Amino acid sequence: MNTALVILAAGQGSRMNSDLPKVLHKLAGAPLLAHAVRAGQFLDPEKVVVVTGHGAAAVEREVETFAPDAICVRQTEQNGTAHAVDQARAVLDGFDGDVIILYGDTPFITGDTLERMIAARSTGASVVVLGFEAQDPGRYGRLVTGADGLDRIVEAKDSSPEELSITLCNSGVIAANRATLFDLIARVNNNNASGEYYLTDIVGLARQDGLQCEVVTCPEAETLGINTRQELAQAETLYQTQARTAALEDGVSLSDPASTYFAYDTVIGRDAIIGPNVVFGLDVTVESGAEIRAFSHLEGCHVAQGAIVGPFARLRPGAEIGESARVGNFVEVKNATLDEGAKVNHLSYIGDAHVGAAANVGAGTITCNYDGVMKHRTEIGANAFIGSDTLLVAPVHVGAEAMTASGTVVTEDIPDGALAIGRARQENKAGFARKLMQMLKAKKLRKMQ
Ligand code: UD1
Ligand code: CA
Repeated sequence: MNTALVILAAGQGSRMNSDLPKVLHKLAGAPLLAHAVRAGQFLDPEKVVVVTGHGAAAVEREVETFAPDAICVRQTEQNGTAHAVDQARAVLDGFDGDVIILYGDTPFITGDTLERMIAARSTGASVVVLGFEAQDPGRYGRLVTGADGLDRIVEAKDSSPEELSITLCNSGVIAANRATLFDLIARVNNNNASGEYYLTDIVGLARQDGLQCEVVTCPEAETLGINTRQELAQAETLYQTQARTAALEDGVSLSDPASTYFAYDTVIGRDAIIGPNVVFGLDVTVESGAEIRAFSHLEGCHVAQGAIVGPFARLRPGAEIGESARVGNFVEVKNATLDEGAKVNHLSYIGDAHVGAAANVGAGTITCNYDGVMKHRTEIGANAFIGSDTLLVAPVHVGAEAMTASGTVVTEDIPDGALAIGRARQENKAGFARKLMQMLKAKKLRKMQ
């Protein structure tokens, strides 16, 4: 069955108390909306439609980066969830398949749950609603069920006391055939306590047409929606807990799971070892058997098998750490490749560079990659030896098996196998230190008299 997603993201989210649209607040490094889209992408949908409204321009810009194939439609006035879905009518015109409606502020829905909804659709239910047993049903819509499955959904505001006592609640996720869905939505009115067009009314309308409606349930935690910063912080904790458990189950060693922080797209291979207090930003891959030691921060990088990174290392976007390479303490690597077995062990900045296989970069080495206007590259050949405190003023090329003497400022290319020394010559003045010390002491005495 073909599927299309419609993700509602037009609401203001006023309880976030923020200038940023709610769905752009981040969970595990990615906007809430990206999490909802990813859940839906599990179904391999043919079309993804995002309904924007509050902060539409900003939301659309973000969508362009994490879901470039998605189509954004605007809901200029927020007249309710049915009205929101109706904004997708034109772009889904002629689409032959099921539409799944998700909320942009509900990040924990799993692909498995959505698959169960699709399965329920294919066994005859015209409308499938995702429900859950609510601990505190509060203002959730109540699912009124009968002998024939789901009869209707009633919003808390419009409920009788008996209906309010129902604990089976509406998550908001709904699946229905495209044509059926939009036929039903066209018949929804706003005669209710909020004066809004409720998507939930499609269930009662479907039943009037003799169509079957069903509830698929999931744990309440999956339907967790974010409305406040408090809830966002709780969601982050929940996300991290799940990610840590998943990593351990996948065969990753975490020496202190509670202090390992994952991004929503972190990929770590089996038998990798992650020390305490390691933070993964977006877009990191750590291969099997690599080790990331304590207090390291990684983003936009790739660490190959057998490499060791840290403690206290910072890998920034574009860092490619090759097999068995070594990045030690207080080393920052950005947009640079370290080939197999290369070592940068202490206190260095390697930016816009390529370090050849088995090259050794001494302590305090800096690639001077930025002239204030442009960035330039540094090339270091295989097996080169860069002495401590070398400044590599890019663009510059150090040949294979070349060396630099400590403290050298390299401004010209070094041929293969050559040694570069570029530092002021040292002169020793006999006895001068002692003489200088006596002069200084005498001066101090005179001052005190
Ligand atoms: C909705 C459901 C309720 C369910 C609850 C689950 C309806 C009428 N009610 O209520 O049964 O228990 O979600 O959280 O559907 N949105 C728009 N445009 C609009 C209105 C809403 O895009 O005009 C978006 C919001 O940004 C949000 C989602 O739809 O992501 C739900 O809207 P919200 O106002 O939070 O609905 P609830 O009243 O919570
Ligand atoms: Ca809500």
